Amino acid sequence: MSVIFEPFKIKSVEPIRMTTREEREYLLQAAGYNLFLINSEDVLIDLLTDSGTSAMSSEQWAGIMRGDEAYACSKSWFRMRDTIREIFGFEHVIPTHQGRAAERILFSIMCKKGHIVPNNTHFDTTRANIEYHGARAIDLLKKEALDPAAELPFKGDMDIVALEKTINKAGQEHVPLILLTITNNSGGGQPVSMSNIRAVSAVAQKYNIPFYFDACRFAENAYFIKLREPGYQNKQVKEIVRDMFSYADGCTMSAKKDALVNIGGFLCTNDGRLAEQERELLILTEGFPTYGGLAGRDLEAIAVGLHEVLNEDYLRYRIASTQYLGRHISEAGVPIVQPPGGHAVYIDAKAMLPHIPVDRYPGQALSIELYLHAGIRSVEIGSVMFARKDPKTGSDIPAPMELVRLAIPRRVYTQSHIDFVVEAILEVYARKDKIRGVKIVQQAPFLRHFTAKFKFVK
Ligand code: F0G
Repeated sequence: MSVIFEPFKIKSVEPIRMTTREEREYLLQAAGYNLFLINSEDVLIDLLTDSGTSAMSSEQWAGIMRGDEAYACSKSWFRMRDTIREIFGFEHVIPTHQGRAAERILFSIMCKKGHIVPNNTHFDTTRANIEYHGARAIDLLKKEALDPAAELPFKGDMDIVALEKTINKAGQEHVPLILLTITNNSGGGQPVSMSNIRAVSAVAQKYNIPFYFDACRFAENAYFIKLREPGYQNKQVKEIVRDMFSYADGCTMSAKKDALVNIGGFLCTNDGRLAEQERELLILTEGFPTYGGLAGRDLEAIAVGLHEVLNEDYLRYRIASTQYLGRHISEAGVPIVQPPGGHAVYIDAKAMLPHIPVDRYPGQALSIELYLHAGIRSVEIGSVMFARKDPKTGSDIPAPMELVRLAIPRRVYTQSHIDFVVEAILEVYARKDKIRGVKIVQQAPFLRHFTAKFKFVK
């Protein structure tokens, strides 16, 4: 049978408030056409992010009740630590309130001015936390992965030749660590192959540089390895994960993704001295090392979620559902980053709306239209978010791509919701020539996408 089967029953529901197009027109105008400023109760299907938006299971909610709220050495902490040790194989676990807190602690210790940190593609908080300490974050994706239409199985792979060149140029003493983001969120949610993980690890060992994963979507990455890499079809995802992490010296993790919880994160290492330094920083800003800014109940929910995310029926449904959305819109002509990622589908707005120049923000225009037409909230990942200022002229240098990300929360929407999204996108696509560009009428100097106000251009 080909129908996508959600391997869970729904025990608790949250009603979705239906809105009319007229209401949405008014709401958009009031929000300055910025979807970050729309109230979530006015959104029908919220595809803004897959982060912290998962539905927890009955076992996780039972864990919430079990949560031991002792300040120090709670039972829930040991449950979380032992689960992480078992799944990832690292000795030291530092709990944090989310991924970027783990990044901040790691990079404050490891990164200095003059350093460079290679990655396949840095997520924006990762880049910001590295650059905050004066180091440079460098993206080393393979060239062919930069073509949105190229259908390759492991578009998250790092360019190994470029990695060695970069290390030799900078001098290995200036490379405090090598990162690999699984799956590669900013590059389209694309997986990294086991052979690439092995190759990155070999380079790291050759130059004696620690190798870390940005592990947010580790289970989705492992499932892609099972589906696509020869030799892994008969391996359990759990074994693949153990194999992947055996090549690394540590990881940062946002539990808001593949630990199926609404808040949390952690940092892992096998280096005892480094772990001590990390714990010292943790106490300063996050909390005692056995809770790190989280409640005991959160630690418990993470421990349960990390086991659940490795369930292969769940992963089969998860990946099939995202691929279904991507395939159905792309077969009808909508240009997307191919193949669809693990957690999201990215529409190539520049290719879909060639009549809108990049300084009229085709991605923003398309995400506005999706909300207006069907109440779907997506996010522009293009020049609104990533344009840089030309230091000479002060004008914007456009981002390399103008994308709209449709990120799918885990276990939240049903197949009919996904069908609704497909239908809405195809209706918008049929009238794409009528979509108008926008201009920015108000913006903040940094991270403008969160607060900017827009107007349609005539
Ligand atoms: N690394 C990656 C690859 C991420 O995608 C994120 C968050 C982080 C680190 C930071 O984790 O939010 O827990 O501090 N990504 C979210 C997104 C925000 O929408 O893609 P955090």
